Amino acid sequence: MAGKNFAWWQSGVIYQIYPRSFQDSNGDGVGDLPGILTRLDYLVALGVDAIWISPVMPSPMADFGYDVADYTGIDPVFGTLADFDRLVAAAHERGLYVILDYVPNHSSDRHPWFLESRASRSNPKRDWYIWCDPAPDGGPPNNWLSEFGGPAWTLDAVTGQYWYHAYLPEQPDLNWRNPQVRDAMLAVLRFWLDRGVDGFRVDAIHHLFEDGRLRDNPPNPDWKPGMSPARRVIRAHTMDQPEVQEAVAAMRRVADAYPGKRLLIGEAYLPIDRLMAYYGPGLSGFQLPFNFHLLSTPWEAGAIAALVARYEAALPPGAWPNWVLGNHDRSRLASRLGPAQARVAAMLLMTLRGTPTIYQGEEIGMTDVPIPPGRVQDPWERRVPGLGLGRDPVRTPMQWEAGAGAGFTTAAEPWLPLAEDWTSLNVAAQERDASSMLSLYRALLTLRRAEPALSAGAYGSVVVGAPDVLAYDRWDEATGRRLRIALNLGDGPQMLAGFAPGARVLLSSHLDERSGPIQGAMRLRPAEGVVLELPAGA
Ligand code: NOJ
Repeated sequence: MAGKNFAWWQSGVIYQIYPRSFQDSNGDGVGDLPGILTRLDYLVALGVDAIWISPVMPSPMADFGYDVADYTGIDPVFGTLADFDRLVAAAHERGLYVILDYVPNHSSDRHPWFLESRASRSNPKRDWYIWCDPAPDGGPPNNWLSEFGGPAWTLDAVTGQYWYHAYLPEQPDLNWRNPQVRDAMLAVLRFWLDRGVDGFRVDAIHHLFEDGRLRDNPPNPDWKPGMSPARRVIRAHTMDQPEVQEAVAAMRRVADAYPGKRLLIGEAYLPIDRLMAYYGPGLSGFQLPFNFHLLSTPWEAGAIAALVARYEAALPPGAWPNWVLGNHDRSRLASRLGPAQARVAAMLLMTLRGTPTIYQGEEIGMTDVPIPPGRVQDPWERRVPGLGLGRDPVRTPMQWEAGAGAGFTTAAEPWLPLAEDWTSLNVAAQERDASSMLSLYRALLTLRRAEPALSAGAYGSVVVGAPDVLAYDRWDEATGRRLRIALNLGDGPQMLAGFAPGARVLLSSHLDERSGPIQGAMRLRPAEGVVLELPAGA
């Protein structure tokens, strides 16, 4: 058990569910809420504390739920509000917290607000979105680019103005400078908090405001062919604008008005110094601004140690850290690092100081699945093909068992193809295998729960003098109990020396018998990570 003074979201572990691909209950090839309900016991057995569910609100699915047409409903493909209420109740009965995805930056172009807004220049909701006259040549008002390719402006032929969209044209940006928009969007938070959700993961928060003067973004001298076309410019005027901070604080005030500790997580891909601003003055912002920096750091002991040091040092007083190694937008660990290092990565994620988020399927070591051209779903891949930007490969259905449909669906074809390896790489097979990735995650989560040093303790980097080894200590300030984590990020063996008598292995990522005292030194096998118990006072 973690220390008494820690909130659930500090000592706990978050598990991200991408609902379209988690569990289908009605045979339409798309996952749904009743499906999630049937898998809650799996998540309890895994040992996580909270589920974050990617968007389930009504949506034309231009961006698979990140284009919301009704902020206070459930899309029929996922079920009903009653299904949602049942899921929250069932999760709470099992001690699981429920975090919803909240998409404040943009709605769907089919949202009634946008339909009204675009109806005429004088419509009362015109100003709910960001409209602008064409440039003198009739083109877009400035050089802003859509994250998903092409200009960030689309012309509405009827009213003769362009609307702004950081993402797809089907995802018009809401105008948060309009107080009515702000009130309506804060009311959305209350709607779900009233239904008992424990928090939100707030989508694309760094995009919430753009420069009021609509100044051009400067060109990016580092852009090269092969990179996302959106990176041709530096987003100086379209990202991380000062006004966002007060909007985040307003969201936080709404959450804090509810009993229990409700959590706000912010999705912002920003440099560490800028990310820290999202904790807000006096920690009045997000409790957890997502820290994605491990995703872009080379898999090298020195680079990761330096990142952790920089991040820890930058945290404002009292701010709680967090770590992410995968999500529905990023390549899977086993594909990025290979299956052996993916196990080391699992140990890293579960033993760093701060709240970890596990993306569904990582716990069984799923890999990126090649998608045949005819099966591509992701609008990004469709608009900017061939650069490897598409996210379908990391969104394929969860592999539950070896039978038809992988236990995910009874449909002949799920919405995205199953990985070819599903008959061998699946939950059922790994439950029977004491050394599987799933067994490793369970062991790590069990250890984390049993050791306050891991779930809530202090962190200190350790120099062990072995190349490729990332080492650090975690200790419980209350009891002085100290653990050392040593991760071999290389493919050769490494020696760890200098252990005081009494040090012993608690867990090896190889999950074979390695317990017992260490006699002065120990050999780490290639791609092996260990959690060690150090003798008191060491
Ligand atoms: C970030 C989400 O994670 C991603 O999946 C989505 O496409 C964009 N925001 C737009 O909402």
